[in-house]
Order: sequence, then C-alpha cells, then structure tokens
Amino acid sequence: MTTKAFVIGHPIAHSRSPLIHGTWLVEHGIDGSYEAIDVAPADLPAFFDRLRAGEFAGGNVTIPHKEAVFALCDSVDDLAKTIGAVNTLVVRDGKVHGYNTDYLGFLGNLDAAVPDWNAQQKPALVIGAGGAARAILVALRSRNIPVILVNRTRATADALAGALGGDITLCGLDEINSAAPLAGLVVNTTSIGMHGTRFDDFDLSVLAADALVTDIVYVPLETPLLADARKRGLKVVDGLGMLLHQAVPGFADWFGVRPQVTPALRASIEATLDH
Ligand code: ATR
Repeated sequence: MTTKAFVIGHPIAHSRSPLIHGTWLVEHGIDGSYEAIDVAPADLPAFFDRLRAGEFAGGNVTIPHKEAVFALCDSVDDLAKTIGAVNTLVVRDGKVHGYNTDYLGFLGNLDAAVPDWNAQQKPALVIGAGGAARAILVALRSRNIPVILVNRTRATADALAGALGGDITLCGLDEINSAAPLAGLVVNTTSIGMHGTRFDDFDLSVLAADALVTDIVYVPLETPLLADARKRGLKVVDGLGMLLHQAVPGFADWFGVRPQVTPALRASIEATLDH
C-alpha cells in the first residue's frame, strides 16, 4: 500500500516541501507520496479526523497552523512545547504525535556547511526575538552555546529570554556593535533581508575574522547581510540548508529511510527560488 504524507498550510502553493520529499521518494524507490494540501483553519479538526482514520503516515505543518495543531495532537514533544510550534506530525496507532524539526534543521545546516563552526565555543549573536528565534535559541542551548540576544524591542527579547531561561544576555539593536566582537556566530532570525533590506547600523568590521554569519531567510539566497559578510571575507551559510535539513527527520519517520541532503537536491530547490 502506498504510504502517504503531506504538508498542510493556508495558502500552500509555494511550499518547496513536495519537491524535497518527492526527490527522496524517487531516489529511494519508495512506494509513497507527499502532497501539498490547502487546509483552512476552520477545517483543521476535520483534517485530523482523516489522520486518525489512517489515511496518512504523517506530514508537515506550516503557516498558519504551527500553533493551532497543539490542541489537536494527541501528544506533543517537550521541545516543540518549548519552541511553541509543531512543524511535523507522525500518526501511530490512530494517534497523532507532534514535534518540531526546525531546530535540528538549523544545526544540521551549520554542521554540514562548517563542521567545526562551534569549535571555539564562543557566544552566538542572535538577532530577533520572534517565533523563528525561539527555535534557534533552543538549538543553541542544546549545544550549550551562550547567546547574546539582540532585538529592536527590548520587552519582546526580555519575555523570550525569561520564558526559555539559560545563558542569554540581552542587548538592544543600538548596542549591537559593542556586543558583536564577542560572537563566534551571527544569526539573523528577522525578516530583514527578504526585500533587499539590511541592518544599516550593524558594522560587520567589528566581528572576529573567524566569525560565521548565517541567515534563516533564503529568498533571496544571499541576503544583504550575507553579501556584506562574504565581501569582508567572513564565513557565511545561507538559510536554504535549514529548510532541507528540517525535512530529514519527518521523511525518516514516515517512510523508514533516513535521506541525505545532497548538492543535487540543493541545486534542484535553488533552481525554483528564482521564480
Ligand atoms: P517570526 O515568528 O517569523 O520569527 P515575528 O514574530 O514577526 O516573526 O518576529 C520578527 C522579529 O524580527 C522580531 O524580533 C522583530 O523585532 P520586534 O520584536 O522589535 O518587533 C524583528 N524585526 C522585524 N522587522 C524588523 C525591523 N525592520 N528592524 C528590526 N527588527 C525587526
């Protein structure tokens, strides 16, 4: 019997996940499918009925459902609770389990691109304190990496640091140049960069020469922050790898094979980013 998986969102047409999982299904000769399904918020409970009835092995959850599915899952992984979002569902014995692979995608991307990125165990400078930052902070904590959290709105960063605990130092966006020299890693988790915008007051010349700069934005693939860092000779890792690596654990759970993030897979997804 064909094993079926999905990504649900609203809208969902632009999701790259079907191409990622479709490539792996073909590569491994698996009798399976992975389809994008547009599910409006009001239709989520009915979709969960289909899950419990056994129609699918599981799937991914994207905007705007990542928080709403909490209440519908039969169980949710503790880390997903801490992150405050579920992006992966697995159905077992008629029960739906939710977890979050975004933080694994973030780490998997850096590990693959720069294997010794954390060798010096310097703090990470994280810019932004929204939902995406939460997953990144959980990822960094899992590697015992101290964080300097930089945000435009101090109160938002305060609330996030308070909720997560751990080694987080707060810093305003206007103080970024005094905090940045300590950092071994810089992570942009804000949407700045999506429209050619940059952090005008961030002086990259203060960064250590061996600092690594990464962005979770992948459209454009090279954000102004990454372009500026690359021109300065700093190591840079773009956000596309995070999308590819976050897909690995779900595929392994639904289809029973752990897939690889290959240069060919990356190239095929990259080719779709221009459109
Ligand atoms: P997500 O859940 O996708 O991470 P979000 O919750 O809207 O998105 O978070 C966006 C983050 O980017 C916030 O930290 C926001 O800063 P504020 O807390 O001050 O709102 C930050 N951000 C967005 N646009 C920004 C801008 N133009 N300048 C500085 N920070 C910005």
